[in-house]
Amino acid sequence: MNSVETTITALRQRTEQTLEQYLPPEGQTPQQLHQAMRYAVLGGGKRIRPILVYSAATAVQADLAQVDAAAAAVELIHAYSLVHDDLPAMDNDDLRRGRPTCHKAFNEATAILVGDALQALAFQTLADNTLLPASSRLQQVRVLTEASGAAGMVGGQALDLASVGQPMDIEGLETLNRMKTGALIRASVLLGALGRVDITAADLTRLSHYAECVGLAFQIQDDILDITSDTATLGKTQGSDQARDKPTYPMLLGLEPAQRRAGNLCAEAQAHLEPFGERASVLSWLADFIVQRLH
Ligand code: IPE
Ligand code: IPE
Ligand code: MG
Ligand code: MG
Ligand code: MG
Repeated sequence: MNSVETTITALRQRTEQTLEQYLPPEGQTPQQLHQAMRYAVLGGGKRIRPILVYSAATAVQADLAQVDAAAAAVELIHAYSLVHDDLPAMDNDDLRRGRPTCHKAFNEATAILVGDALQALAFQTLADNTLLPASSRLQQVRVLTEASGAAGMVGGQALDLASVGQPMDIEGLETLNRMKTGALIRASVLLGALGRVDITAADLTRLSHYAECVGLAFQIQDDILDITSDTATLGKTQGSDQARDKPTYPMLLGLEPAQRRAGNLCAEAQAHLEPFGERASVLSWLADFIVQRLH
């Protein structure tokens, strides 16, 4: 393993420990809800968003401990989005992170409540983080609410569902993806940068541009893998987009142009990191990983 890979492994372990610490214990009443929350969050997932939080904090020389709460919060929102995304009313998927989806392992009502509870827990986690001043916490809450709500992830999910069977051009798909997936990826990077109390507007803008490119590339690669990968590697059912007639990049552009677009976005993302030098080496590595990953 090279040094960046060692760092990533350590950040992933840090994420697991932090999530464990913020989730309610299984034995607490109502037990089934708490078991299902833990099932949905722990034991799987690449943890890309928390790792982006930590790597952005590193790029601006913020303390990792100050952004533990933000790293957990964004993954809690992400896990909630996956639980709801898999519900029969949405993508109706049975497999997630190599295991039965939350509504299959428990039941639909529990899965809905798990999403609701994880969302609330995410904001509580940010609000309670006394390692940052209240003004920084408020900014973080603002960033994560906007990225998760109707102007971000939830709005993107609405567009995604409305797009089934409808004609869609590449601009429409890009708007959908910027909201559905890009918004939370961008929020991850901004949350990490806000771990530095005196972060400059210029640095926030650079990191935001990086994150917008990476966010779009992330969904393009997700769409590509739905075609090129297999269920065992993905830990979710391959071919799910086609089965549900979802508009995707490879469908609109073709596989190779979609791969080229992801590669170009990765290079564009890395160009925005230049002023940060070595401190952004993990963010730079992540941009490559996002378009080269196999799951
Ligand atoms: C999958 O996200 C859902 C999308 C936004 C495309 P990830 O690929 O990050 O899923 P996990 O967290 O690793 O399972
Ligand atoms: C979901 O996109 C993005 C979310 C907001 C959860 P997908 O529907 O493509 O995600 P997968 O492929 O099921 O992970
Ligand atoms: Mg979906
Ligand atoms: Mg889905
Ligand atoms: Mg997908």
